[in-house]
This record gives sequence, C-alpha cells and structure tokens, in this order.
Amino acid sequence: MRVVLGVAGGIAAYKAAHVIRRLRELDHSVKVVPTANALKFIGAPTLEALSGQTVTTDVFDEVDTVNHVRIGQEADLVIIAPATADLIAKIAAGRADDLLTASVLTTTAEVVVAPAMHTEMWLNPATVANIATLRSRGIHVLDPAVGRLTGPDSGPGRLPEPEDIVDFALSRQTDRTRPEQSSTETRPLSGRRIVISAGGTREALDPVRFLGNRSSGKQGIALAKAAHAAGSHVDLVAANIDSGLLSGLPAGITITPVESTLELQAAMHTAQTHADAIIMAAAVADYRPAEATDSKMKKSGDDGLTLRLVQNPDILRGLVDERGRQTRLGDQIIVGFAAETGDADTTALDYARAKFRRKGVDLLVFNDVSDDRAFGHDDTMVQIISSDDGEIAVGEEFVGSKDDVSQKVIAALSAQLTHVESTT
Ligand code: CTP
Repeated sequence: MRVVLGVAGGIAAYKAAHVIRRLRELDHSVKVVPTANALKFIGAPTLEALSGQTVTTDVFDEVDTVNHVRIGQEADLVIIAPATADLIAKIAAGRADDLLTASVLTTTAEVVVAPAMHTEMWLNPATVANIATLRSRGIHVLDPAVGRLTGPDSGPGRLPEPEDIVDFALSRQTDRTRPEQSSTETRPLSGRRIVISAGGTREALDPVRFLGNRSSGKQGIALAKAAHAAGSHVDLVAANIDSGLLSGLPAGITITPVESTLELQAAMHTAQTHADAIIMAAAVADYRPAEATDSKMKKSGDDGLTLRLVQNPDILRGLVDERGRQTRLGDQIIVGFAAETGDADTTALDYARAKFRRKGVDLLVFNDVSDDRAFGHDDTMVQIISSDDGEIAVGEEFVGSKDDVSQKVIAALSAQLTHVESTT
C-alpha cells in the first residue's frame, strides 16, 4: 500500500521515524511529506534513509512531476503524525500552501490525523472547532495521549504511540476497501422516512400581529440536509422559515408550512403515521393568546393592555404518547432538543437530564446556552442524551456548526435505527 506520512513541526516529529519503520516492516511504501518546520526537528536525510524515498516540502520542488497533486492522488492512505494545532487549522480551512496541505486537499484516501500539542492548545475552542470540522468531513482524528509534554507540564497532548497510530490507520484503510460497508456507512438512512420540525411557531393576536420567537430554522434545515444526504426521505414541517432558506434545500424533501403551535401539532401527528423517526427541532411557544381577534386590535386608552395566555400542548410529549398507543409505531425513534441554562441550584445538564425523562424521548440534543458557554458566532456545544439499559447516558461535549451538529445527531439516530425494521 502507498502511504503518505505527513509530519508537522512539533517536538514529537522525531517519532515519525518509528511510524516509518513500522510501516516499512509491514511492507508498505512510505512517502514522507514534512512541513518546512518539521525539518527543524528531524532531518530530511533521516526521513529519506528510513523511507527510501526523496523528501520535499515545497510545491515548487520537483515541479515536472506535478508533485503537489500527484502525491495526494496516488496515496492509498494518508497519516499525519504529529499534527500540530497550526496544521490542523490549515486543513480545516482548506489551505494548500505547502506540499503536505496540498496533498491532503487532493487525496481521496482515508486521512488519519494524530495530534500532538500542549494541553492549552488542544483544549482551545479554536482547535476544538477545527477538530470537529475535520471529523465532520470524515477525517479520522485520534485523541492525543495524556502524559508528560515538552518542558515540565503534562496533560492531554502527547502523540499516541507510533504502533497504535499505524494499527489504527491500517484498520481504517481496511474498512474502506470493504465495498459492502461503504454504502451503509455513507447512506445509513437509505429507505427510511424522517420527519423534522423546524423554525419557530407564531401565535396570532389579530390578523396582523403575533407572539413569536427568534428561531430562524437553520438548525432544522441543516438536519433535513444531513438526513437527506444519509439517504432518508425527509418530511420537513416548517414553522415560519424564510423562503430563501427553504429554497436551498435539495429536491425531494417534502415541505409542509405551518404557523401556529396547533397547526404544527396537527402536521406532526399526520406525518407521524408513516415515520421511522421524528426530530423536534422547532422552537414551540409554550403559550398562546386565549383569543385572537378577527379584526385588527385598536388602541383603547392609556391603561395598557393585558393579554391572557393559555398553555399550548406539549407536541413532543404528545408524539411519544401516540407512539405508545399504536403498536405499529412502537419502534419509532423520537428526538427532542433542549437549550438550557443553569442556575445556582441546578446545572444546565441536570435540567436537560430531567427533560429527557419527562419527555420520554430516545435522544435529547442538549445545548448549554449559559452565558459563559459561547463557542464563537456560529458554533454551539451539544451533548446527546440517551438511555443505556434504563440509565441516562450523556454523550461527550461536541462543538461545531449547525451542519456539524446535524451530522452528529443523524449519526446517533442512525445508530438507534440500525436494529429497527422500516415502517414504510
Ligand atoms: N416542544 C414541543 N412542544 C412544546 C414545547 C416544546 O414539542 N409545547 C419540544 C421542542 O421542539 C423541543 C423540546 O420539546 O424538542 C424541548 O423544548 P423546550 O422548550 O426546552 O421544552 P419545554 O417543554 O417547553 O420545557 P421548559 O419548561 O423548560 O420550557
């Protein structure tokens, strides 16, 4: 197998020598592509002697062979060990200003990244987001080992053992060559029907005014796209979503526009009858005006205006109850969302745990929206809560864009649906 080994400029670059040796022992050819900074830590002659191939770093070296495209194209597997925070950021951004980044951008082979950096860099939200981006694109990023780092400090950030990196990378490549796995891996929802609610409800006060919320529907749209890309038929129940956003959806997604909570409830119950799974991503008004007037409300003196509100139904709970009543729907997977803040007595996560129990869902996508948990303008942190043998299981913190979060939710949903026959 033709392995391209990328080496970035960190103290652990010397361990690349062990990775090369191990790969060569297993009879693989190794083309080493270091960054210019990597050569400050390990010399090109060492890398050339161990790999038996020339070593260059620049896109302008060996131009006659179109190296910057050919190396990536010809690779059967790309391993980057060590990968620094800077190199990871460049890959996340799609940069291609040296031979290694150009090769990563041109390859269609499996890419395995073994990070090594100081703990602070690994935990920095910028790196966390970049790692999430890489993973959402199918790049395999190993978690660094915990232990002694350069200098007196220690923590997560050490390069995993070279043998472990090689074993993991070769196992990824083997998976990829199994053709029957690839289609279920990339289209795990093929033949399924997923109903997704998105946007925010509006409760009419009169023909021109309403009580509403700021939900744009972007998260639900991203979920619809991810479910469609995973092979599912998607029914999107869209509460007041901008037509510009809806027009960007791929063909084949069925859209049911609704306005109020009661309309959303009716549309969801209709769609439920033929769904393998339901995702309630819409922001639903908990209350609506007790009565809406048919004609526009007029100002009436200086005494202010008192509105009487009545409680709306809990749509999600109603869908779970309906599933319980209909044996035919027994295997349906139901997913809720919960954006929570903590307070002096209870953490946001504890509120989410309680909501998971109260709603009776299979998965709850918990989003901590406490003030100090901002992850950059477009990124959010989510944790997926599920049930494991009756106990509540809380997934790892995941930071990413709405698209990244959607991939994660669809992957979790697909895993739950794996053992369930389709209802359609
Ligand atoms: N939801 C629903 N019907 C409602 C309110 C919420 O179906 N009337 C759904 C949302 O779409 C979401 C989940 O329930 O998937 C949690 O929404 P949230 O507003 O956090 O739940 P509430 O039940 O309103 O809880 P809280 O008392 O914390 O507001």
